[in-house]
Amino acid sequence: MTDTLTIPRPDDWHLHLRDGAMLEAVLPETARHFGRAIIMPNLVPPVVTGAQAAAYRDRILAALPEGMAFEPLMTLYLTEDTDPADVAAAHASGLVKAVKLYPAGATTNSASGVRDFDKVRPVLEKMAEIGLPLCTHGEVTDHDIDIFDREAVFIDRVLDPIRAATPGLRVVMEHITTKNAAEYVASQDKDLGATITTHHLIINRNHILVGGIKPHYYCLPVAKREEHRLALRAAAVSGDARFFLGTDSAPHTDPNKESACGCAGCFTATNTMPLLAHVFEEEGALDKLAGFASEHGPAFYGLPVSGGTLTLTKGDAPVQFPEKIESGDGPVTVFDPGFPVYWSAE
Ligand code: DOR
Ligand code: ZN
Repeated sequence: MTDTLTIPRPDDWHLHLRDGAMLEAVLPETARHFGRAIIMPNLVPPVVTGAQAAAYRDRILAALPEGMAFEPLMTLYLTEDTDPADVAAAHASGLVKAVKLYPAGATTNSASGVRDFDKVRPVLEKMAEIGLPLCTHGEVTDHDIDIFDREAVFIDRVLDPIRAATPGLRVVMEHITTKNAAEYVASQDKDLGATITTHHLIINRNHILVGGIKPHYYCLPVAKREEHRLALRAAAVSGDARFFLGTDSAPHTDPNKESACGCAGCFTATNTMPLLAHVFEEEGALDKLAGFASEHGPAFYGLPVSGGTLTLTKGDAPVQFPEKIESGDGPVTVFDPGFPVYWSAE
């Protein structure tokens, strides 16, 4: 039996491409299936200014193999020194599609992020005025807050107050991992959207910790209890246009993952679309995949749907995805869903 599903070419609304040798290795993995992606700015040093975003965009396009079409949608890393005028100019030129808020210390390369939210108020007000979305890493960093509660507490202590204080600010709550976040987003107006990763639809916290620690399932926000994974699945297949795909595919080399202090990130660029077909089929919702992966994101960002299509095909035998991809910096392990997948993408 062969099943086929053709959808408009999907986009990835949250992606880490890194730089240099790693960029060269991972970019084709995304460009093979995706038309565009929102590119995370957490390089070292971070992409803070419009000029830095323009230079990074040029490096991405230079790394794109001949014959591949892909449009990087650039973001700026919000710091307490970010200049509202620079943000506005980068938006007006069409270069920048969002600004990324990392609470300082929340995750990989977030040290330059925001500590005092009052200091970024002028930037947020400018963004509300010009309609430039804010993408949030939605976790508080307070030491007394349990890591599994950091997203839920962020909604109450940071996100809701920022939105109340900045009417008209469009916000994407990125890589949501909790029922709390899914319910909060669904209860708000159309100025709030949320991305959901592929891996958070597949793993819960047991996958990370039961039977030995599995560093390749560790990411931030960390996967939560099963009830949260099920709530994310329900949101993803709901057809609600506020929920869309952001893979958060985040490559780290194996030595950096398989370490006494392993880096956070799951690398899913290679097999995300087949895995999503599997998940949506399991949920009896293959008809909702086009909305989630190809249509809701562009609608939120005010962009047209990507040109072209992607065809997903279900075969009789499990597909063998590469276990790792090689980069000049070292091998990167591809996310293993832990079950056979019969879908491939072309
Ligand atoms: O797991 C993650 N990896 N979460 C993040 O927020 C950052 C990302 C990375 O840059 O590696
Ligand atoms: Zn990320």
